[in-house]
Amino acid sequence: MSRIHTIIEPFRIKSVEPIRMSTAEERERALAASGYNLFALHSQDVMIDLLTDSGTGAMSAEQWASLQRGDESYAGSPSFYRFESAVRALFPFKHVIPTHQGRAAEKILFSVIGGPGKVFPNNTHFDTTRANIEHTGAIAKDLVIAEGRVPSLEHPFKGNMDLEALDATIREHGKENVPVVFVTVTNNSGGGQPVSLENLRGVRAVCDRHGLPLFLDGCRFAENAWLVREREAACAHLSVREIVLEMARLCDGMTMSAKKDGLANIGGWLAVNDDELARKCRNVLILTEGFPTYGGLAGRDLEAIAQGLAEVVDHDYLRYRVRSTAYLGDALRAAGVPIVVPTGGHAVYIDARGMLPHIPPLEYPGQSLAVALYREGGVRGCEIGTVMFGRQPDGAERPAAMDLVRLAIPRRTYTQSHVDYVTEVAQHVAHIKKGLRGYRIVAEPPQLRHFTARFEPL
Ligand code: F0G
Repeated sequence: MSRIHTIIEPFRIKSVEPIRMSTAEERERALAASGYNLFALHSQDVMIDLLTDSGTGAMSAEQWASLQRGDESYAGSPSFYRFESAVRALFPFKHVIPTHQGRAAEKILFSVIGGPGKVFPNNTHFDTTRANIEHTGAIAKDLVIAEGRVPSLEHPFKGNMDLEALDATIREHGKENVPVVFVTVTNNSGGGQPVSLENLRGVRAVCDRHGLPLFLDGCRFAENAWLVREREAACAHLSVREIVLEMARLCDGMTMSAKKDGLANIGGWLAVNDDELARKCRNVLILTEGFPTYGGLAGRDLEAIAQGLAEVVDHDYLRYRVRSTAYLGDALRAAGVPIVVPTGGHAVYIDARGMLPHIPPLEYPGQSLAVALYREGGVRGCEIGTVMFGRQPDGAERPAAMDLVRLAIPRRTYTQSHVDYVTEVAQHVAHIKKGLRGYRIVAEPPQLRHFTARFEPL
């Protein structure tokens, strides 16, 4: 047996971006100026930016090279055809409609198939998905398995859909009111947790019983496929590419943000098999995004995505990606910081409600923890809890299922010593946690309030 076990970053660095060091006093001033909303900070005031893994990764030398090949023709660009064939090599759907990012695909799809009286089940909707559904007057239902709602519970596939609840929801609302069933891989809002192939087959069977189409929110499809390969015994012999193709075979379409597992800084797509649906969606696309062979993207962006899709299913990349995320999760647990277990693919989620039991959910323990991580160490994470999900469509406010702080890891961007620093900052915050206080919101917009709300410490 070899004694060499370290999984190294499978790349070396060709181009660097300086990190500006800041002091706690400077950060306290930045917090006050931003209304204690980390989205309002200037990113140069952040030392380790774990706000999101979306569009924040490093591109490869091949991706940078592909930018030069970008053809900016308005119609019929070869860059579009390279993009389309890269998408269809993994997801062989009949129609591939490029969009400038994932939510544009959602906006187009739900504006065509949503509307009052319609219901969209999902394991857990991401915030923009839910908002785009509710914007049409439809209802977004989260039906993840019960285990997926308990941060401290170990389960290999906490992103799985509750099949009985799905069946009951379709019966309750009537299948004619359920235009499509969604499954989000990995389940971002539920902790970056994967969905098993077995569960996806189960969802397919429920959809078939009711004659309903099944769509993937595929943002982190490659991480999901890697976790299937590692955790689902029946799939251990399959390549990631084979698992992705099987996921696609079970579905009728997908929405995608190429800012995640497209390894690109911008982009997305909507893919469908249904000709009539594609025709309607392309009409909206032309109104809102652009011509169907560029869809709100430059030709060079389409090239970067095509190359990214070839790289993201590489096993060495995914082994490093998932292991380096788990490395942070393991270190936080060892430091006594409660996290959602097991660690998901793209992020570590700290259980802020569990860590700060003295702050009630309606005083936003996740916000308090996220602010403390920034103040103490310049680390920017993201509240995923009552600030993000607490405001109901009817205007009432309720605690979210969990109050988490997500530390999302940009792809191929930070090194192990950056991650060690983040652990030290979190450990320090755990030492001073009794002194942390809750927040109240002093201004908020009617939707997606977490992006622009202003807070005051209590
Ligand atoms: N679906 C999921 C599961 C997502 O995580 C996101 C974005 C979207 C859809 C929308 O894609 O940003 O390209 O419009 N998630 C980012 C995040 C923003 O930080 O988790 P988009």
